[in-house]
Amino acid sequence: MEFSIVFVVSSTLLLLCSSPAYAKSTASPPPITLTPAPAPAPAYVNLTDLLSVAGPFHTFLSYLESTKVIETFQNQANNTEEGITIFVPKDSAFSSLKKPSLSNLTRDQLRSLILFHGLPHYYTLADFDKLSLSSPITTLAGGEYTLNFTDASGTVHIGSGWTDTKVSSSVHSTDPVAVYQVDKVLLPEEIFGTDIPPTPAPTPAPDIAPAADTPTESTDSKSSPLSSPDGSSSHRILGLGALSHLVLAMSGCYLQELVKEKK
Ligand SMILES: *[C@@H]1O[C@H](CO)[C@@H](O)[C@H](O)[C@H]1NC(C)=O
Ligand SMILES: *[C@@H]1O[C@H](CO)[C@@H](O)[C@H](O)[C@H]1NC(C)=O
Ligand SMILES: *[C@@H]1O[C@H](CO)[C@@H](O)[C@H](O)[C@H]1NC(C)=O
Ligand SMILES: *[C@@H]1O[C@H](CO)[C@@H](O)[C@H](O)[C@H]1NC(C)=O
Repeated sequence: MEFSIVFVVSSTLLLLCSSPAYAKSTASPPPITLTPAPAPAPAYVNLTDLLSVAGPFHTFLSYLESTKVIETFQNQANNTEEGITIFVPKDSAFSSLKKPSLSNLTRDQLRSLILFHGLPHYYTLADFDKLSLSSPITTLAGGEYTLNFTDASGTVHIGSGWTDTKVSSSVHSTDPVAVYQVDKVLLPEEIFGTDIPPTPAPTPAPDIAPAADTPTESTDSKSSPLSSPDGSSSHRILGLGALSHLVLAMSGCYLQELVKEKK
């Protein structure tokens, strides 16, 4: 009886101390990281270099190169007063894009779709608050290739009709080049039409793997000498077993805290 109470208490302890760790590791996506104000920045940013080290943005980068849009973007970054803002989907955004498919777009359509991910002006994340008032905004694809922006308490949402996504982090933000990571590929109505499927696909789970700090099982196996529950000597042993279980649970807790701090 006494033992089972201690067992329950210590197990609860173990559970209590492990659950915040778990909750932390599965928390919502990390907040947008703003680039700190830099020392005198070099004006020239090699977009190919930038995108090949961040991300992974390999799919987007290979589309940039195959469509030669990389030259348009680099030129916009190098040679204009306006600068450029680029929304870059991660590789996972392309791999999870099932419908509509990009595979049978014409060369021109693909080029427009990639250009659609750039704006002909440098915008900081704070600028999108104002930008939401003047939406829709014309992209580097021109004409009717427009995006709508809304600012929901600091999170920039982007709408293209087909796509409803958000800026999930800032990759680079120093005048004249802003590069923001987005969760989905931006799909223009100009290519895919306005016949948008009514039920949007469920948002994919955030690609953050939960950390492997589940409570350890080892504490249970060591503290179960339940053979003769009535003898006075075995009672002492029992008490000791229960105590060690409690100690183990608490040290397990302490260890987890240690591990967390090390991370
Ligand atoms: C940008 O970097 C890439 C990869 O390192 C390189 O091949 C390319 O020549 C660079 N472009 C310019 C304009 O310097
Ligand atoms: C951009 O500037 C770099 C460095 O001055 C230069 O090497 C590159 O050719 C330029 N690219 C374009 C497209 O203007
Ligand atoms: C791609 O091809 C399929 C099958 O031929 C067709 O149903 C679909 O409409 C095409 N998609 C585009 C964007 O052209
Ligand atoms: C963008 O915003 C305008 C004005 O609010 C609206 O008329 C239009 O339907 C929106 N477009 C998309 C694709 O959300």
